[in-house]
Amino acid sequence: MNGEKITLYVTGSIAAYKAVSLLRLCQKAGADVRVVMTEAATRFVTPQTFAALSGHSVLTDASAAHLETIAHVELAQWGTYHVVAPASADFIAKSAAGIADSVALTTYLAARGPKLVVPAMNDGMWDNPATRRNITQLRQDGQQVLDPATGLLAEGYAAKGRMAEPEVIMTALQQLQGQPQDWAGKHLLVTAGGTQEDLDPVRYLSNRSSGKMGYALANAASQRGAQVTLLSANVNLPTPTGVKVIPVRTAADLKDQLQQLFPTVDGLLMAAAVSDFRPVQVAEHKLKKTADGEEITLRFQQNPDLLKLVAAHKRPNQVVVGFAAETHDWRQNALHKLAAKQADYIVLNDVSNPAIGFNSDDNQVTIFGADGFQEQTPVETKDAIADHILTVINPKDH
Ligand code: CTP
Repeated sequence: MNGEKITLYVTGSIAAYKAVSLLRLCQKAGADVRVVMTEAATRFVTPQTFAALSGHSVLTDASAAHLETIAHVELAQWGTYHVVAPASADFIAKSAAGIADSVALTTYLAARGPKLVVPAMNDGMWDNPATRRNITQLRQDGQQVLDPATGLLAEGYAAKGRMAEPEVIMTALQQLQGQPQDWAGKHLLVTAGGTQEDLDPVRYLSNRSSGKMGYALANAASQRGAQVTLLSANVNLPTPTGVKVIPVRTAADLKDQLQQLFPTVDGLLMAAAVSDFRPVQVAEHKLKKTADGEEITLRFQQNPDLLKLVAAHKRPNQVVVGFAAETHDWRQNALHKLAAKQADYIVLNDVSNPAIGFNSDDNQVTIFGADGFQEQTPVETKDAIADHILTVINPKDH
């Protein structure tokens, strides 16, 4: 942790005293630590303790009231890592909802770097469905949450809820630090989800893409230092930390955004399932049944191949990655798409297997490169696959 800057958020829990040891351990490892406390935390340990040990003034609601600078933004930007220890149920709930009604929460909301949350609370609070939901939300948002330890609680009985020991927190921090920043300075455009093509004002044609792969890619790229813009077609997933999401609905919306943004980025990861066809006519009014048992015929026209369209204008220093969803003749189809779309890579996805296809959290892909590269990943989480893809396509590695 040598030379790293850590913003430590101390919140209202009896375990606040352990944050003092954590601060000491971080300093021993060479890190510079600044502390922000919630009002409730100051009732367990005084700000003066942390100020004396950290060598920096401590930000609290009371101290912020006397400052002329925007102290919370400053502290949010200063820290490379953001550690909440102990994290009370209240802080977890509020930060999961994006609430910023204290200087600690405002700082945390403004912070962009990797976040580590170390809960400490009564076992009933930890088990409560509301807390479970909030923890899931934080994890989905890309924050790392340590499980509390099982042991003697302040209430006098043993249960799950004790804050992880400072040594355990240090190990987690060091792992977090191990995250390579190999995409720093690069801007990636990611597309995710499935487009909708209108039939009439209430009906549309779409596909079964969940958007999970695209969101996993956007999240992993952001964690690895990239600036990420995500064109999101009808996806119901939480926004990954640090990622700019632009919602799109139809293939035409996606085309407009792609044409505008592609020239400005270093790479495109085209994970969206674009509808190949759209109705020739979109009915102005809702289509009505006219007779019992009638048959109707809908006529479709082709949408442009968006990947092909933008890849045709690819600069040599841009990397373009397409995704091929196939149910049969996988390899042959993937290689054909690689050439036809002028992509640098095609990530082949076998969607005939429900265990690893649409809406699943797991996947297995084969990556084909225009340079002859070929590699099949094991069946693993979409997050792990995303990391794998980002390693393979990084121009620095070639
Ligand atoms: N794609 C696109 N525009 C389209 C169709 C697909 O940009 N109109 C992109 C997808 O985002 C994906 C890649 O092309 O990155 C392959 O998509 P896929 O649906 O597997 O292939 P298609 O080209 O649509 O071919 P087919 O449906 O015949 O398999």
